[in-house]
Amino acid sequence: MEVTGASAVVTGAAGGIGAALGQRLLERGAGLVVLSDLDATRLSATAEAMAAEHGVDRVAHLAADVTSETAIEQLADLAGGVPDIFIANAGIFSGFGLESTDAEWAASLDVNLMSHVRAARVLVPRWLDENGGCFAVTASAAGLLTQLGSPTYATSKRAAVGFAEWLAATYGDRGVQVAALCPMGVRTPMTENGDVAEGDAGVAHGAVSSAGDMMDPLDVADVLLDAIEGGQFLALPHAQVGEMYAQKAADPDRWTSGMQRFRRSLER
Ligand SMILES: NC(=O)c1ccc[n+]([C@@H]2O[C@H](COP(=O)([O-])OP(=O)(O)OC[C@H]3O[C@@H](n4cnc5c(N)ncnc54)[C@H](O)[C@@H]3O)[C@@H](O)[C@H]2O)c1
Repeated sequence: MEVTGASAVVTGAAGGIGAALGQRLLERGAGLVVLSDLDATRLSATAEAMAAEHGVDRVAHLAADVTSETAIEQLADLAGGVPDIFIANAGIFSGFGLESTDAEWAASLDVNLMSHVRAARVLVPRWLDENGGCFAVTASAAGLLTQLGSPTYATSKRAAVGFAEWLAATYGDRGVQVAALCPMGVRTPMTENGDVAEGDAGVAHGAVSSAGDMMDPLDVADVLLDAIEGGQFLALPHAQVGEMYAQKAADPDRWTSGMQRFRRSLER
């Protein structure tokens, strides 16, 4: 999939990785970028700054909740009906420890997984009827490995990778390209106040900040767009995630012991 001239939708784009994806899509010559987020105020400011830099005709925005299929239809329509690229990037980091509530489980699964399922239901038929397109998800390294401290995040991100794999296996040879972005720590609003968290939340944020380098969102965006342009499924901004994933598959018991050691070090 070529980014130059493409139309694209990015969710969770008020800041962080989503805003960086919007910025890089525009810099690489996307024809139209539709930015969306639940946070209308921050979204407007981000979109207006990008429109001032790249042209008002190349940037649109709509405040929306990605868990609504109707909202996804509106976003696709704003991008001309059949966006070339849809990046399901919105996500939440909610629920820590076994005490995570049913509401936190439901919200995590709704935003981090079901919003992708609903978006694919809207977009895949349109792509099959037209000239195809690219469905990219921002999952996480947590979706390949795990997320210490947060069972809700670990499980919902694993499910997001699982759904993206299924989409690729089912539609990848019929014109629907699929990509999954799986970073470790990235410097965004999601991670900015993690050092004050305690208990399981402290373990979760400590795991994010100490597992690897905290990356700049613009560099993470480049890795996903390179994967989209290169036709790759997995986009791994932290190269060691691929090695850890292979080690986990080769010897799951040894890998689990290593995760236990890492957890104990974070609890101290
Ligand atoms: N920051 C990291 O270290 C890291 C690492 C791996 C994966 N991720 C993933 O990257 C994605 C982007 O996160 P980020 O780090 O930029 O943090 P972020 O909090 O800045 O971005 C997430 C955005 O999603 C929006 N959002 C949440 N629920 C929504 C909903 N129901 N509808 C629409 N928008 C909604 C939020 O308002 C927010 O702007 C997330 O899926 C996150 O899980 C982040």
